[in-house]
Amino acid sequence: MEAVQTDRLKPGQILAEEVRDINGRLLLAKGNEIQSNHIRIFKIWGISEVNVAGACRRKDKFDSRLDPELVEQAAESLKFLCRHVDLEHPAIKEIFKIAVQFRCRHNLVDPEGNLYFIEREMPHEAQKINFLEEMNRKKIILPEIPSVVFELNEVIANPMSSAEQIAEVVNRSPSLTALLLRIVNSSFYSFPSKIDKVSHAVTLIGTREISGLALGISILSIFRNIPKEIIDMYSFLKHSLACAILSRVFAAHLNSNQTEQLFVSGLLHDLGRLILYIYFPNESHNIITRSRNESRLLYKVEKEYLECDHAQVGKQLMEQWKLPMILENNVCYHHKPSDAQQPIPATIVHLADLIVNSLGIGSSGERFVPHLDYDAWENLELSPSCFEKVIGQATHQFKALETILHV
Ligand SMILES: [Fe+2]
Ligand SMILES: [Fe+2]
Repeated sequence: MEAVQTDRLKPGQILAEEVRDINGRLLLAKGNEIQSNHIRIFKIWGISEVNVAGACRRKDKFDSRLDPELVEQAAESLKFLCRHVDLEHPAIKEIFKIAVQFRCRHNLVDPEGNLYFIEREMPHEAQKINFLEEMNRKKIILPEIPSVVFELNEVIANPMSSAEQIAEVVNRSPSLTALLLRIVNSSFYSFPSKIDKVSHAVTLIGTREISGLALGISILSIFRNIPKEIIDMYSFLKHSLACAILSRVFAAHLNSNQTEQLFVSGLLHDLGRLILYIYFPNESHNIITRSRNESRLLYKVEKEYLECDHAQVGKQLMEQWKLPMILENNVCYHHKPSDAQQPIPATIVHLADLIVNSLGIGSSGERFVPHLDYDAWENLELSPSCFEKVIGQATHQFKALETILHV
């Protein structure tokens, strides 16, 4: 048996292990001869490699084509970014190996490469505030969720609704319509002809997926005008989208029926940080500067200076917007999932965040790889040997969807 990258598959090879999509549906059973249409379907679903009958599986999966000097450099800089995690832990060891190769292949060897930060002088003693009290004192009203999201959820929840009725609600928001059509026409789905009607998109990709995408897109678009001096939104969105996709692929791998909720949770997990950046730009800047100068994790410094961290701020937003409890659970506990009421989905987002930070895909402001919640990890009963396949599948899907961020 040999693992072959989808790009290198040849029609006529025999599949040695079944292939399933992110929802666990069987794409091709073991023993089948692979045809060119199968290869196309594997690509659509982001299957980065499959096992075919033939030679033995490679023992050392480290890509020997990479320049050893570059690998060394990437490993050194990643070690620095991993100062808050135990590099001897089996899960971290595997993530580290994959991340070093990923960073070499994607020109992310510079540890600061994915961070955007305008240097300013830091006051000697940054002022500590109580964020939640301060919000009340300043009478800050948090942004409202666009009404189209609620209307859409309502129409989707009705089993009698047709694709046209769902499309009618989406069409009320021109920006949502444009973005949804962009997504269905991206190489992620690779439909053979152009889709120019939302109703067609709904029939093709399904209502659950449409509602998840609409919710995530509408919420993040509230914040699209944040000035670049505060945060690079493109980098923030890259981090969020990568976490969303990786959370969904992990959920599918674990046969969870919450794949869509996990996608949305990944998309929104650091949302609280945007609130901090918008309403408290100076405090936020001081906190980021302090975390960098003292080489500490950003969310821990947030807690010290604001008496709460971005995960708690995110929870507050979810509460105000009356979003499903599971999203609140996953967002609020993404840095400490073992404390969550539903620890498994929160752990999936936690793991996805740790991996995306290690790979260096965008940033929500954090410089270092956040710590691993060991109890939550044990509880997940996941073998690190699946990481290569899961991360490969997710990064492939990310590449196909990344173009939607250029808006
Ligand atoms: Fe976070
Ligand atoms: Fe994050």
